[in-house]
Amino acid sequence: MKKILITRRLLRENEDKASKKFKVELNLNDELYTQSKLIELSNGCDGILASLTDKMDAQTINKLPNTIKIISNFAVGFGNIDLEAAKKKGIAVTNTPDVLTDATAEIGVLLILGACRRASEGIENARSANWKWSADYLIGKQLTGTRLGILGMGRIGQKIAEITKSLGMIIHYHNRSKLSEDKEKGAIYHDSIKSLFSVSDVLSICCPATKETQNLINKKSLEYFPKGAVITNVARGDIVDDDALIDALDRRKIYAIGLDVYKGEPNLNPGYLKFKQAFILPHLGSATKDTRLAMANLAIDNIVEFFDTGSCKNKIN
Ligand code: DGY
Repeated sequence: MKKILITRRLLRENEDKASKKFKVELNLNDELYTQSKLIELSNGCDGILASLTDKMDAQTINKLPNTIKIISNFAVGFGNIDLEAAKKKGIAVTNTPDVLTDATAEIGVLLILGACRRASEGIENARSANWKWSADYLIGKQLTGTRLGILGMGRIGQKIAEITKSLGMIIHYHNRSKLSEDKEKGAIYHDSIKSLFSVSDVLSICCPATKETQNLINKKSLEYFPKGAVITNVARGDIVDDDALIDALDRRKIYAIGLDVYKGEPNLNPGYLKFKQAFILPHLGSATKDTRLAMANLAIDNIVEFFDTGSCKNKIN
């Protein structure tokens, strides 16, 4: 039986399933392992079921025992893993696409609504009974007829497009390549971020965090947006240069933000906290029971498939 290190607690049903398939090293206290602890606990293991909170950089991967053949990430995003370093060491990396598309798109839409309709201010005022209705009280941006730019039109981007289109938004997108018409469903393709950002009254960041997308939202690219645009991020914090975005909020170049993900989670740049127009959530993208169960099942199945067949359809390196 293969031995697998499971770095964080999973839901009970998932841990039971994993225990039937493998000899498992569980993290019963759900401790956030340091990199040296991850390396130490990997000894004697054949694979690691990792979480997005585990920083698997090149240094860590290079020190893993040679018995480790797979890192199965319990997430669709893989910004926490150096794919190249893993490949060089002969370690397959897999992720959990599809099963979290709907849940994550729901949070993507919530970010758009929350930021545009001033939900943070509204919640704060309602809780403290510190408000009085008036014709101009907490006036926000209506989505109907507003242009939504989607950066990264993969599964989650397409689902956000479908939902927001039904709310009357006009969908534009940028992707590495143009989608076929049946996937585009009327969305307008832009072959550069400059072109996309210049028509984005609201932006939804849905692309993966890679070396190419790191700090794609920066001082220069923020100037491409129409004045008073809204920026939302349901993907990864690494895509945003926080200081540049905070400066753009200060200058009112950017009207509001909706964020579910941050650089250096669970921390976020404290500069965001001074803005009432910051609608912020603690990385809730996939946080529904059905989705978390399905993600962990898939992360387990990826390991089974890999050891049974020597490869896996969800291998990403
Ligand atoms: C993922 O799987 O990448 C999501 O961000 C988890 O919520």
